[in-house]
Amino acid sequence: MRKLLVAGNWKMNGTSATNKKLLDGILTHADSFNSVDVALFPPAVYLQQVQQALKGTNLSWGTQNLSQFRQGAYTGEISAVMLKDFGCRYVLIGHSERRCLYAELDLDQLVLDHIIAEKYEMAISEGITPIVCIGESPEEHARGETEEIIGRLLDITIERLGVKALSQAVLAYEPVWAIGTGKSATPEWAQEVHSFMRERIAKHDPTTAETVQILYGGSVKGNNAAPLFSMPDIDGGLIGGASLDVDEFVSICQAAV
Ligand code: 13P
Repeated sequence: MRKLLVAGNWKMNGTSATNKKLLDGILTHADSFNSVDVALFPPAVYLQQVQQALKGTNLSWGTQNLSQFRQGAYTGEISAVMLKDFGCRYVLIGHSERRCLYAELDLDQLVLDHIIAEKYEMAISEGITPIVCIGESPEEHARGETEEIIGRLLDITIERLGVKALSQAVLAYEPVWAIGTGKSATPEWAQEVHSFMRERIAKHDPTTAETVQILYGGSVKGNNAAPLFSMPDIDGGLIGGASLDVDEFVSICQAAV
């Protein structure tokens, strides 16, 4: 039986004052979702604030990105060693908002997938669990390319790191058309894609396929979380907008109990 994980991606939101309110509010209810893994992903500048608030609680924390390089002259980047220094349990990798930014620089999609695999390798080398985000754009969705896009990233990661490495990771299916749009994928659609991902991994190793957590992300709210989380291959959610609101986020965490 896989444990459920609810991850709150704050994106580029918050100030010390609003973070404090949010953290205090969530912690007031933390006992009501004891059986669920819950993790928060603040902007990196607030990592220390979040670490101090969550230390000794049942919640964990991480960042929204990391560098594929170990250290050195990489202005503006954050290394896996630094994340470990701040007690991060997880790191998000390959979020579509990051992928789009890189695409603006005309990086070839395959190169981009390889960079994501390098970041993955870097995170696990420091004992940090990467949450690898994948999902199709609205255009790819309309062209029926969902499985092709997701299959390619899984194949590259498996080829580069070996299928066993996936047991040290979490996967997140985040269709770009559902992110921040208020239009979540239906539980049935998400289930179908999650099941495809598990089957693709099972071709290499059925045990890893059975044990890896696969989250769904894209307009998850308090009122649609329960039917999504009740699907057999959906192991929790990666939450954006609703993770900034105490009541919404707490009700999503409670839907995972
Ligand atoms: P929303 O929940 O705001 O759609 O964002 C999802 C997301 O991108 C989480 O990483």
